[in-house]
Amino acid sequence: MLNKLVIVGVGLIGGSFAAALKRVKLPYEYIGVVRRESAAKEAVELGIVDRTVSSIAEVAPELGEGDVVFIATPTLTVANILQQCAELVSPYVTVTDAASVKGSVLEAVQDAYGCIPSQVVLGHPIAGSEQSGVAAADPYLYRTHKVIVTPTESTGEDHLRRVRHLWRMTGAEVVDMSVQEHDQVLASTSHLPHLLAYALVDSLARDEEHDNIFKYAAGGFRDFTRIAASDPTMWHDIMCANGDAIVRSLDLLTDNIAQLRTAIIARDGQAIKELFTRAKSSRDYFSRMISHRTREAKMQKVINYRLQPGGEVKGTIRVPGDKSMSHRSIMLGSLAVGTTEVTGFLEGADALATLSAFRNMGVDIKGPVDGKVTIQGVGLFGLKPPTEPLNMGNSGTSMRLLAGIVAGQTFSATLTGDESLSKRPMKRVADPLRAMGVKVDTEEGGRPPITIHGAGHTTAMHYDLPMASAQVKSCVLLAGLYAQGETSVVEPAPTRDHTERMLRGFGYEVKTEDAKVSLKGRGTLTATQIDVPSDISSAAFFMVAAAITPGSDLTLEHVGINPTRIGVVNILRAMGANLTLSNEREVGGEPVADITVKYSPLKGISIPEDQVPLAIDEFPVLFVAAACAEGTTVLTGAEELRVKESDRIQAMADGLTTLGVKATVTSDGMIIEGGAMGGGDIVTHHDHRIAMAFAVASLAASEEIRIHDCANVATSFPGFVSLAQQVGMQIEEQTL
Ligand code: S3P
Repeated sequence: MLNKLVIVGVGLIGGSFAAALKRVKLPYEYIGVVRRESAAKEAVELGIVDRTVSSIAEVAPELGEGDVVFIATPTLTVANILQQCAELVSPYVTVTDAASVKGSVLEAVQDAYGCIPSQVVLGHPIAGSEQSGVAAADPYLYRTHKVIVTPTESTGEDHLRRVRHLWRMTGAEVVDMSVQEHDQVLASTSHLPHLLAYALVDSLARDEEHDNIFKYAAGGFRDFTRIAASDPTMWHDIMCANGDAIVRSLDLLTDNIAQLRTAIIARDGQAIKELFTRAKSSRDYFSRMISHRTREAKMQKVINYRLQPGGEVKGTIRVPGDKSMSHRSIMLGSLAVGTTEVTGFLEGADALATLSAFRNMGVDIKGPVDGKVTIQGVGLFGLKPPTEPLNMGNSGTSMRLLAGIVAGQTFSATLTGDESLSKRPMKRVADPLRAMGVKVDTEEGGRPPITIHGAGHTTAMHYDLPMASAQVKSCVLLAGLYAQGETSVVEPAPTRDHTERMLRGFGYEVKTEDAKVSLKGRGTLTATQIDVPSDISSAAFFMVAAAITPGSDLTLEHVGINPTRIGVVNILRAMGANLTLSNEREVGGEPVADITVKYSPLKGISIPEDQVPLAIDEFPVLFVAAACAEGTTVLTGAEELRVKESDRIQAMADGLTTLGVKATVTSDGMIIEGGAMGGGDIVTHHDHRIAMAFAVASLAASEEIRIHDCANVATSFPGFVSLAQQVGMQIEEQTL
């Protein structure tokens, strides 16, 4: 039998909660407690709840362990509902709420139960809208918003876990706070602004000297006072319930206003300017924060690309920073002693997942602002236990490298990821870490979530990598930092060596002799400056775009050309591409160049297997180059492509077939007959590189190409669409 989720008050907040959980098909019976008959009918008709009852008394006898009561009524009515819960609802049922003030609700819990029972978990979603009622329920209301839960010492673990899980399933980010902290934070950031907006509108409306002053008001007034249109009853409740904290914030503000008043009377321009400048810089910081969040929210929306056939590839562009190096800059900067400054950091979701994880482990990281990040390193042993599982999103690099770092800590951490990452193999890092004496739990089949039980040290070892993987190599080396003695790896084929190079940049000795890389543990990383060059993996899309488009002439500036990454250059040249490197230089231990590509006809080749690890992320777009080449291209030795963000062999072969290209899948690669390309609908499996590869294909296609689910392009290449438009591709982004 299904557990029951009882929603008391199916308005905007309760209705959106139910709608969000129903959207992801969370298996509950959804029961609304709704008094008004018309509202009850509407809630069922809209499919927001499965059935309604008119009181808690009516449903309470049905409830037991695993069931949840979610109270989503106005703040001052919560006390009454809690009274009923205390009298009627079993102590095994989880009881939670969404009220905007937590101190008054906690008092109400105490009054109702005579104690704070383990079953009660108080929470507050920081999301809303000026609309109200069940018809306004929005399954996406909480997505990427924060939900604050305020557990107390007596809160039961299982109840807490259940409430956190429910909120996470709505797409929200859950954070813990004390009740007092919550109420003070909300008083300052939400309650006080509402009070001011109401007060300003009211005093202007009552200004007798100016009849109907609003007719002169414009954007500034509109923006400042938008929230004065909110529900007065709800806000009256909040002002009463959180009076003390609001008055504290109001006193601070009143002092500030008094100072400004004095400065204005004295015409003290300096003082006024100083205050305004300080405020502006804080507001600018906030704007950047919101724009990050908007970007994140955008990634969770459905984004499709529509491309018209043909187009140009001309100009000079710079693609965003290297993903591999961006991850490592945060990791090593955090483990170093001193302040590391990073420029050129990739502000894509993958690298940002790494950044958030280290913030979550107590590292003070400022930025990114225009690619600049400042990290206050805490040393090898200065990380703090994270307060919650570390969500690595779509990023395999974050998960596998971080696993190696957590292995040496004195705490455990659980690493989770999105749907795609949750399917990817982690046994490849769990095995060597276990061999280094670390306890590692994975889900069935070695899949994430993965929990690493750090014991404060690892055991040095030698490891022969079973596959050519820079992530596994890096994981073992990073774990080796925590071992007494030498840890070494031998790779079956050279893979990207950014970990080794960057460690050296941090003053840490790493030896490379042929295929063997080794380091001694327990040294010190010393903070440094890192200039991240453009990502050759992102540049590759535009290299192929120019290579297949007659009349093209494109220069990609400041691209990282590390010899372990230039497979794409070697392969394209072998296919006959006209590609020149200029302005070659070294930046922070990594070679960099400008790359110019002009059209020239391509021919099919057998791709040398030694190039495979050096171009591992570039095959989706290289397959497009092969489809445009004359003759047959054969790829072998690339089974690793099957365990990337999608099975890239299958996904690319399916897409090419849709466009009318003959693509035959083999166990470790593909055979592609170059030829004409039509158009059609492409399934990306939410893989960023599949999406971008087919966008490039449109340049040689004869009909429109529609590419579905492209939101994850933002994991590695924010701004891809505008750069593509800038060079002359006919791409349009549609957000649903
Ligand atoms: C990466 C290594 C490669 C690559 C990935 C980034 C890295 O993965 O595909 O995009 O930064 O170390 P594997 O180690 O699985 O080959």
